[in-house]
Amino acid sequence: MNLETITLQACVAVEQAAAFIRSESEKFSASDVREKSAHNLVTYIDEGSERMLIGELSKILPGSGFIAEESPGMERKQLSWIIDPLDGTTNFIHGLPMYSISVALMEEGRVVSGIIYEAGQKEFFYTWQGSPAFLNGNPIRVSSAGTLNESLFATGFPYYDYSRLDPYIEHFRFMMQHTRGIRRLGTAAADLAWVACGRFDGFYEYGLSPWDVAAGTLLVQNAGGKVCDFRAGADFIFGKEIVATNNLIHGEFIDSLKRFMGT
Ligand code: IPD
Ligand code: CA
Repeated sequence: MNLETITLQACVAVEQAAAFIRSESEKFSASDVREKSAHNLVTYIDEGSERMLIGELSKILPGSGFIAEESPGMERKQLSWIIDPLDGTTNFIHGLPMYSISVALMEEGRVVSGIIYEAGQKEFFYTWQGSPAFLNGNPIRVSSAGTLNESLFATGFPYYDYSRLDPYIEHFRFMMQHTRGIRRLGTAAADLAWVACGRFDGFYEYGLSPWDVAAGTLLVQNAGGKVCDFRAGADFIFGKEIVATNNLIHGEFIDSLKRFMGT
């Protein structure tokens, strides 16, 4: 299996899905929005993008499995694609230009290829096992910030699982006082891509799904960063908790997170 070829072929599929999303964004109206559950939105555009991706990715690796946001019943296999056909659906619906497509290939539980396309700035982030991480063809690296006080963070605000809201807010208060600031882009895939290219020094969020994070984890790792769950463990793809940093501030950040949220 040539992962470079597979990744570049998958980039073409992602580009086609992005063109579909862009063209539909002009026709789309509020009546096209449905709620999967409270605050969790979907449109025919998410579903159409996913159908296109599944069709094209199946041609690249016939017989592969899928973990896809809008197709919950699909079969997982030893080799499976993990797809978010439109990460940042709420941004998209509200006309905010920042949204992404995220595609990862997982082999026996390890992500071996990752692609994130951020549509607002037309930025293609991609990598595969053993390669550097790239942004539009150029290698990228995580930042060199050495302390929390020199760092800019991203997070995602809880919008359905409020069980950990109090410790999250207490930790947020700490972060306001000990970093240069915190941003909330509204697309976790782009948050991770922006850690990989050094715009953010770190990102953390709970309540995420594998399709939000799988591709981004390999991008961050291959760009020199570190990824873990809230207890510094390895359950960051299916475990609904993720921390990604430039590595240099990892220990300091994890200590702070454990102090407030490490139960
Ligand atoms: C969402 C985005 C958002 C994050 C949410 C995700 P979706 O993905 O990644 O940034 O805060 O938790 O669900 O639903 O737009 O694909
Ligand atoms: Ca989505």
